[in-house]
Amino acid sequence: MSDKVSRRQFAKIAGLSAAGVASPLEMADAKPAAAARNAGGFPAGFVWGTATSSYQVEGAVNEDGRGASIWDSFTRIPGKIEDGTNGDRANEHYHRYKEDIALIRELGCKAYRFSVAWPRLFPDGDGKPNPKGLDFYNRLIDELLKNGIEPWLTLYHWDLPQSLQDRFGGWRSTETCKIFGDYAACVAEHLTDRVKNVFTLNESGRFVYFGYGIGIDAPGLTLPRAEVNQIRHNSALAHGLAVQAVRAHGRRGTKVGPAENIDACAPAIDTPENVRAAEIALREMNAGYLNVIMEGRYTDAFLKFAGRDAPKYTDAELKIISSPVDFLGLNIYAPQNYVVASDQGPGFMPLPIPKSFPHMNSDWLRIGPETLYWVPKLAAKIWKTDAIYISENGTSGEDQVTPDGKIYDTDRIMYLRNYLAQLQRATEEGVPVRGYFLWSLMDNFEWVFGLGKRFGLYHVNFDTQVRTPKLSASFYRNVIAKNAAGV
Ligand code: NOJ
Repeated sequence: MSDKVSRRQFAKIAGLSAAGVASPLEMADAKPAAAARNAGGFPAGFVWGTATSSYQVEGAVNEDGRGASIWDSFTRIPGKIEDGTNGDRANEHYHRYKEDIALIRELGCKAYRFSVAWPRLFPDGDGKPNPKGLDFYNRLIDELLKNGIEPWLTLYHWDLPQSLQDRFGGWRSTETCKIFGDYAACVAEHLTDRVKNVFTLNESGRFVYFGYGIGIDAPGLTLPRAEVNQIRHNSALAHGLAVQAVRAHGRRGTKVGPAENIDACAPAIDTPENVRAAEIALREMNAGYLNVIMEGRYTDAFLKFAGRDAPKYTDAELKIISSPVDFLGLNIYAPQNYVVASDQGPGFMPLPIPKSFPHMNSDWLRIGPETLYWVPKLAAKIWKTDAIYISENGTSGEDQVTPDGKIYDTDRIMYLRNYLAQLQRATEEGVPVRGYFLWSLMDNFEWVFGLGKRFGLYHVNFDTQVRTPKLSASFYRNVIAKNAAGV
C-alpha cells in the first residue's frame, strides 16, 4: 500500500469499516445434482445472482458522452493504485456486455446486480440526461431479460461525477444529496419498467471513511471526524431521497433498499448471553448508517461516543433517511467483531482479533463463514425485516492459470462452500434471506488494488480480454442447480 498505509493497517481499517476449469460448454457437462429442491437446501425461489459495478468493469470512460468520475481522477494520482492501473479499459464490458451476459447465463444465475455509472447519464452530475448513456443501460437490461436474467440495479457504486466533487465537495454537501435524488428519479422513470429491484448506495461504510477519512479511496481526503460523521449522515440522506424518488417516479411495486457492508458482528461462542451481546453490537456498530435508516434515530451510545463530532441534522432529515425500504441488502465478506457479553457500556465487548486469524489472499478477508448465519439472523430480528439479500459475498484468490490453461481455485470453493452452508443453515431456520449475489462474475478493477486482486468466477486476461471459467464457476453452477450449498 505504498506511501499511505501498510497492508496491515489496511486490513485493520477494512475490518473496522464494514467491510470452472472448463470452457462454458464443458461446464455444461459437469453434472449438477437433481433439480431444485426444498428439503436440505435453500427455499424455493431463492434468488441466485452475481454482481459487478460500473467503474470496475465497464471501461469506455471517454465514450458516448460519459463525464469524468472521481475514480477517473483519483487513479491518475501516482501511488494511489497498487499496480498503477485504472478503470479506463477494465473489462471492456461496455462493449462486451453480450458476451458477459452469456457467462451469467452459463452459471444458471437468474439475477445480475450491476450499477449505473452516474456520469454516463449525467456527465456533470445534473442537468439533462445523456441519451447515449441511457441507451447503454436499456440495451444491457434488454439483453439480460432476453436471457432470462433479472436486472438488479445499484444507483451508486462510488463513481461520483467529478463535477459534483469540484462544485460542491461531493458528499460533503447536501446539494449532492439532492442532485442524487434527481438522478435516482431519472433512472426510476426510464428503467423501472423492466428493473424491479433497486439498490440505493453501495457501502456507505466504506466509501465515506475510506474516501473522506483516510484518503485510501476517491476522492482521497483526510478530513476530521466531525466532517466524516456529517458525510456519513449525508450518505444516509441521499439513500432516503433515492428511496423517495423511486417511489415517486418508478413503476408501482418497484422494490428498493440499501446495499451495505454491515459491520458484521457474531458471538465468539454461542451462548444466550453472547448472542444477545452480538445483537446489541450489531445495532450499535451500525448506528451511523443502517440503524438510522431502519430506526429513524441515532442511538444514544452513538451520539455519546461521537460527542461534539456528532452529525448535525433535523427531524425532517431523519424522516427522509428512514423512508421505509422493501429489503435489506447486506454485503458480507468477513467477521468484523467477535463479541462476548459484558456488563460494561452498552452490554458487549468486541474481542481483539489474533494476528494468526486465518484470512484469504486479501488481509482483510478473514474467514468467518458463520457471519452468513448470525448477521442476517440478528439483522432480521433487530430491524424486523422480512427480506434480506446478500448483495455481495466472495473472495479474491491467486488464481494461477496452470499449464493446461485452467484455473483450479479450490480456495475460493472452500470459502464459498463454508459460507453458503451457513447461509443455508439460516434459511432453514426461517431467517428471511431471499437471495445471494456472488462477488464477482469476473475479475475486475479492485479499486486501490487495481487489476491485481481477482474476485471473479471467470478469470480475465486483461491484455486479451479473454474470459475463462475458474473451477469455482462450475461449483457455483452446481449450487444453483441443486439449490443447496452441498457440503
Ligand atoms: C465491496 C465492493 O462493493 C466491491 O466494489 C468490491 O470489489 C468488493 N467489496 C471486494 O472488495
